[in-house]
Amino acid sequence: MNVQSYCSNTNSMTFLRVVFNGFQLISKLTTSRKRCTRFNGAEVRVVVIMGGQIATNNDKLPRGESCAHVGFVAKQPTGLWQTKTQQTTNTNAMLLLRHCRGLTRVDLFKTQRVQLLQGAALPVAVCAGSLCARWGSSHGEHKSGQYQRSHGPKWRHALAGLLAGTGAVLAYGLHHSQAATTIVQPIAPASSLPIYTQDEVTKHRSVEEGVWVTYKGSVYDITEFVSMHPGGDKILLAAGGALEPFWALYAVHSQDHVLEILSEYKVGELSAEDRRKQQNVKSTDPYSTDPERHPALRINSLKPFNAEPPPEILSDNYITPSAIFFKRNHLPVPQVDPKSYRLQVEGVSGGAPLSLSLEELKTCFPKHTVTATLQCAGNRRSEMNKVKQVKGLNWGIAAISNATWSGARLKDVLLAAGYRPEVAQQTSHVQFEGLDSDVTGTTYGASIPLNKAVSEEGDVLLAYQMNGEDLPADHGYPVRVVVPGTVGARNVKWLGKIIVSDEESSSHWQQNDYKGFSPATDWDTVDFKSAPAIQELPVQSAITQPAEGAVVERSAEEVTVKGYAWSGGGREVVRVDVSLDGGRTWQVAQLQSSEKGQVPAPSPPPGRAWAWKLWELTAPLPPAAQELEIVCKAVDNSYNMQPDSVAPIWNLRGVLSNAWHRVKVTVKEDEEEQKLV
Ligand code: MTE
Repeated sequence: MNVQSYCSNTNSMTFLRVVFNGFQLISKLTTSRKRCTRFNGAEVRVVVIMGGQIATNNDKLPRGESCAHVGFVAKQPTGLWQTKTQQTTNTNAMLLLRHCRGLTRVDLFKTQRVQLLQGAALPVAVCAGSLCARWGSSHGEHKSGQYQRSHGPKWRHALAGLLAGTGAVLAYGLHHSQAATTIVQPIAPASSLPIYTQDEVTKHRSVEEGVWVTYKGSVYDITEFVSMHPGGDKILLAAGGALEPFWALYAVHSQDHVLEILSEYKVGELSAEDRRKQQNVKSTDPYSTDPERHPALRINSLKPFNAEPPPEILSDNYITPSAIFFKRNHLPVPQVDPKSYRLQVEGVSGGAPLSLSLEELKTCFPKHTVTATLQCAGNRRSEMNKVKQVKGLNWGIAAISNATWSGARLKDVLLAAGYRPEVAQQTSHVQFEGLDSDVTGTTYGASIPLNKAVSEEGDVLLAYQMNGEDLPADHGYPVRVVVPGTVGARNVKWLGKIIVSDEESSSHWQQNDYKGFSPATDWDTVDFKSAPAIQELPVQSAITQPAEGAVVERSAEEVTVKGYAWSGGGREVVRVDVSLDGGRTWQVAQLQSSEKGQVPAPSPPPGRAWAWKLWELTAPLPPAAQELEIVCKAVDNSYNMQPDSVAPIWNLRGVLSNAWHRVKVTVKEDEEEQKLV
């Protein structure tokens, strides 16, 4: 038996490949309880043992190198996990495989292969009984005609059990002669993988029947991956068909590590005829009507479009010009005709549904203007990535911008729809639906608490103007919600519908994304229901100038540091501290709450500080320093302060990243002085 492990460089996942007697199993290395299952009354899980310890996903097993021990552990009545198999021997491997097999609880069946292996398996007959399952016949040439197509539910249960139960063990190229038959395929060169027709693939459209997809002419059984998909159940939309149209929509998939993960699930090739058919289908690019963007933007993903301005120009303006305001789209920008646009309002208890044209929204309600900062929950995610890989776009420090928004107050529109304060007792949320949608028509959605929506001081707008002009297409034309003090995700763009409800939005982005977790929570243990949706954001600040790695001339004698600071929930930033020596000594920066040279804006009313403050500090260069570690931290009027380091706030989605921001710069000595030294 040969056990190999290999790590994905990009997502730090460790995979384990067990090769035994011409069979291979591929497993995502895990010690998570979620992947455990019950076996003979005990919970078991597949593990790799390194140096006497059970390896975890964080243990970097050398790529491609043999790893000596593989086994399984069982949970004792005491609650402790006890290693049952510590040595990689054929018998133990057999035991492992048979346990995996046994976990599936499929019926008995007899094949050539079983008979061949039975001798070797005898010593482990202990795991027999219900577990004396036998190997499915499977090696040899398989043409699509010979191939069994009846992947019945029982078989699927078998695989699902196997996958869910034993560290997501995958048996490749599974074929069988009866519905109840199983599994494990001999390693074979790609060319001899089974050939499937599109019809066969189409039959696998659910977790029960197996989830199969095709990509570039290959067939993948991704049943096991469904529960691990960062985008949730959406992956099922592609079940039984091609991935290409979905990946065109969610271009985040066009990364090496995604292909690497997919390759683990390959089970066959698509028939030549169906490949030809697929190639002939011209997929129309749903992003072809996206607007032109400013070339200065740093693009994080093109389709959907996600970009941030370079930090050094972000703090040049108190009001961020719309063209360089960060852009965060989950889907293609919808084309909305302002003439036929209607905003639907429903669910107001005791009221009546309302349908407003753009003109009515502009003329029937007072126009209200608010200067408010929007920040994406993933701002500064790249710093979390440096601690440990997280999932999501690798935002720098500029997924934040500040604009002046004008529109009708949401409160006024709800009142027009019949909202009365006395019904606030029964309803607690206001949901928003965007007009941007995916191929199934599912729209972007989010919700906010009703009390924020109807509060006089909440300043929630149905904005139709940004910085004095019609909303740009990327920012929600013709109408978006602006929820000052609240995470960007709830500021729904291209607003189509408002629903007053006793439920939060059921959208993926409200329920299964944009939530914070402990550093201890990983993708195997996360329960999105256990955490509240992010609404108000914590206090934040970052250094926009100088940039990391910049060089400061000693002859300049001083250094100027600039940045932004902001806090959620209308809390005002009252101070920004800056250190040039990594946090040992501090100086207080000057705050700026209007464009430079303009009269400072009066302090906002308490609880309504929606806009950021820019800040600046010019300080003498420390005499002996060859390198400066510049650090900033902000304090808001509730005396909330930023945490000093990233690791304790690390979370698997890389949200709420607000540790002290640090930038290292070099001090370049004058040439004259260098000569003297
Ligand atoms: N609204 C819709 N309809 N679709 C979206 O993809 N993205 C949200 C929010 N509203 C989004 C949306 C997220 S995650 C953020 S951070 C903000 O819009 C970004 O707003 P901006 O692109 O105007 O900066």
